[in-house]
Formats: sequence, structure tokens, C-alpha cells
Amino acid sequence: MNNFDLITPEGMRDFLFDECSRLRETETAVREIFETAGFREIITPALEFFDVFDRKSRCFPQENFYKSTDDKGRILVVRPDSTMPIARIAATRLKDEPKPLKLFYSQIVYRNNPQKRRRNDEIKQMGIELIGDGSAQCDIDVVTLALKVLEIAVKNGKRALIEIGDSGITRCLLDKLNISEYMRETILDLLETKNTPELHELIRVYDLPENEYVKLLRIMPRLFGDESVFEKAAEIVSDKELIVKISALKKFIEEIKSKSEKIEITVDLGFVNKINYYTGFVLRGYIENCGEPVISGGRYDKLLAEYGGDSPAVGFAVDVDLLTAAVNAESVSKRPLRIALTKGRLEHKTVDILEKLGFDVSEIHNKGRKLILEVKKNDTVFEVVLCKSPDVITYVDNGVCDIGVVGKDTISEHGGKFYELLDLRFGKCRFALCGKTGENFYSGINVKTIATKYPNVSRRFFESKGMDVDIVKIEGSVELAPLIGLSDAIVDIVETGKTLDENGLEIYETVQQLSARLIANRVSLKTNRRDIGELIKNLESV
Ligand code: PRP
Repeated sequence: MNNFDLITPEGMRDFLFDECSRLRETETAVREIFETAGFREIITPALEFFDVFDRKSRCFPQENFYKSTDDKGRILVVRPDSTMPIARIAATRLKDEPKPLKLFYSQIVYRNNPQKRRRNDEIKQMGIELIGDGSAQCDIDVVTLALKVLEIAVKNGKRALIEIGDSGITRCLLDKLNISEYMRETILDLLETKNTPELHELIRVYDLPENEYVKLLRIMPRLFGDESVFEKAAEIVSDKELIVKISALKKFIEEIKSKSEKIEITVDLGFVNKINYYTGFVLRGYIENCGEPVISGGRYDKLLAEYGGDSPAVGFAVDVDLLTAAVNAESVSKRPLRIALTKGRLEHKTVDILEKLGFDVSEIHNKGRKLILEVKKNDTVFEVVLCKSPDVITYVDNGVCDIGVVGKDTISEHGGKFYELLDLRFGKCRFALCGKTGENFYSGINVKTIATKYPNVSRRFFESKGMDVDIVKIEGSVELAPLIGLSDAIVDIVETGKTLDENGLEIYETVQQLSARLIANRVSLKTNRRDIGELIKNLESV
């Protein structure tokens, strides 16, 4: 019997007593900041027509919406975002109101996040939208307000930083590359995840000419941190349009720096946001040990036009749950950088490399049943956590581990919201479609059955071919499935090819090349950028 009358749906939860008062305290503090700055509250309905979010900017994949229908069968969506409903109101009921409109909201957004991984689908957000002022001063005022929100955490002893980028820089760079829409999307995805290895592979495969634009693109994922990134960019860029945009960002950041002594201001030149309605500066606010950005926003001058209005606009949203958790978390002394290692072959290879780099890894060699181990070199100490490959992603995603070593096979199957920084070039193998030797897999009219440990990878592979298949999940020794008649073929890892050979099977097609990757939590990379940067440099040297 299922006790659905006793439990909450996945992704939802109850808040009791102290949790509520802590949330309300944060809300009151943020509300005071917004109201003092002259913003007025609006509330939008929880249910909107699907069309409000189905815009050109395609901010949210529709599988992330909670949907329903009204009594006329029209599709409704539980709001996944507040900016778009507010853009709808600004372009309609508020269109003749004197500008600028200074609006704020405090409401829950709902995003269906199938992977869960400890994240709620109900996100309490507070935010501002400033509509009808396109000036540089307005941008500065908005960032200053975001700084004030982060100061709530700083007052409670936490370290916070604000990172600023300009969505126009990547857009301008991509325009100069003269590439297809598909490739543009692919590059944006790779920049968003700071996936240097695949970005370089893409440049190689498509044989992009090694001009200044491609040179800049290559280092774009690493152009974040202090002002030195502007010097690095200047060494490459001679294009006037790009120089103007980069210099404007530099000036903007200098101005912001004079507004706060308590919060570090950093830059990310390769800043890309999946929510692609941003047209100008973009910002993210981070609090140390908080696995996800607490604030995100920027300038979005074209969004209102999608609703029939036409006004410049700028705003940001605060994740109230995260801010509350950060404010109330006990201040712990800074822990060592924590690395999640995939147990087994990848663990041994990584430990070999750390040893080559001069680290004392004796605790790992003599680990016994211990799960958290230390490796040291002079003053540098890392904590190493040994776990199964999907757990590496879960720990890094949640920010309880800063970086991780995991196979691309696990990344492709499980996905996540981390940065993929380095191809470690060991653990090389591939995903392949395999079956009985000599058979023609693609012949006949029957829907084929595929056995695999990697259903998501397999589904995407056949979707890209426009081919219907039945996928059966198998936990190990997948090669058995076609041999004993469960499937027509398998999608599995092939390393030496020995298992296939010894069982009368062969590769029909390679699906994807694989190797071990270094991944990092999105907040840790920014708050520990020197330690992680140093480690990457060392890893690259071997
Ligand atoms: C992997 C993979 C293949 C085999 C391929 O299995 O699933 O079965 O290795 O290696 P080869 O090409 O060098 O023969 P693993 O050893 O991880 O065990 P499993 O099949 O039980 O998952």
C-alpha cells in the first residue's frame, strides 16, 4: 500500500516552526532593502498560460514545467519564473504607467527537476525588476542592491562574492565566428559548463581557423576571477567591437568595486546563462559553501518586446531558501579542498598523478575502511572522498565536495549542474552500439530492443537518428542480453574489445569517445578559484 496521504510529493516539503521564522527573517531583511530603494510589490498568479513561458528566448525546457489544463483544455503552467509574468504585466496593464517601473516580488517558483539530488522543486524567490531605464547608472544601482542583499550573509560572518559578466561579449564573439545556429547553441552549452576539453575538440572537428576569435573562444571558459582576465583577453583581441565591450565591462566593474568593501567583486568573461533573455550585463551572487548561486540576474532589454511592449529592463532574483540556509549555517573554519574520486581504476590513476606531483598519498594507500582521507604536500592539504561514480556527481553538484574525478560515461548518463574543467586523458574507452557479429542491425521493420546500463545515452543516440527503439536497463555484463535473446543489440562501454571478441559480438557503431574528467562545483570554483586553478595547472603539467 502506498501512503500517499501521509507524505509530500518528491521535490516538495513542509517547513516547521523555526524554519518558518528563519525564512521570514530573511524575507523581511530583503523586503526592507527593496522597499527602501523605492520598489513596489506585485504578486502574479501561480498558474499562467503555457504561452507566457513558451517564448522565442526558450528559457526553460518544457519538461521542467509543472503543467495542468483549464476547463477549456488549454495548457496551464505553474510559474517556473517570475520575470516573464512581470514582463507580461509591464507590457500590458502597466504599459502607460510612468517609467521607470520599480517592481519587486516575493513568491514561489516551481521547476520540475527530475534528478532531484536534494534540490526542492519549490523555490522561494524574491527579486526586483526595474523597467524603462536603460542607463549605465541604473545597472550600477541594481548591482548595488544585490550587494546589499549579500551583505545580510556577510553580517553573519559569511564570505560572499558577486561575479559580473556581459552576455553581449559571448554573443559578439559567436557572431564573428560565422557559424551555424546548431553550433552556436552547442558552444553556448559548452561555455556554460566551462567544458574546455569538448570546446577544444569541437574546434578541432569543425576545423575552425585559428584566428583571434577562436583563440579567445579557447580560453573563454577560464577567463574568470580578478582583473587579470582583462589583460589575458587584451593579449588576444584586436577586434574593435569586442574591445569596446570588454573595456565597458572593465569600467563597470571598477565602478561597482567602489560600492562595497565587504564583498569581493569578480568577473567572468565567458559568462553564459541558460536563461537566454539577457542582453547586457549579467550577475551572480555566491556565498561560500552554498552549492549554488544565491543571486542571479542581469539586463534583458528585448524580453518585453516579446509581449508587445518595448522597454529596457533589468533585475535579479534571490533564492531565499539558500540565503536563509547560508545566513543560519554555523561558521566553520575553512575546510581543505575536498575531492570526490571514483573508486577503482580512476582512483588509482588519480592517486598516481597526485604522487607524481609530490603529494603524500600514503593515507590512501593504507586506507583500510576509511572513507575520508587526506593527501598533503607542504602546506597544501586535500580531503579525498572515495565513492561510486554517480555519487561523485551528486556530491559535487550539492557543493559538499568541491571537485571530482569521474568518467565521461557517468557524466553523459547522469548530467548535472557542475563545470567540466579538464579531460584527464586516462580511463579512455568509448560507448558503442554492439551486437552479434555479422548481423545487420539496421535491416528489417521491427522496432529493435537495446540492452544497456546507460538508458539516457542510448535514448539520445537513437533520438538523434530519428529511430524508435525499446530500451531495457541491465545492471552489468550487458553483453549477455543479445546472446540469450533479450535484445537485438547493446549500447555499452568498450575498452579493449576483448569482452566482445570472446562472446562473438562486434561494434556496429561508435556512439561517443570517453575518458576521465575533472569536474567542479559552480560555487566552489569561484570561491576557491586560486586553489582549484593551481591544481588544474599542476594536473595539466603531467
Ligand atoms: C565494462 C563494460 C564491458 C567491458 C568492456 O564492464 O560494460 O562489459 O567493461 O571492456 P573490454 O572492451 O576491455 O572488454 P565492467 O568490467 O565495468 O563490468 P560490468 O559489465 O559488470 O558492468
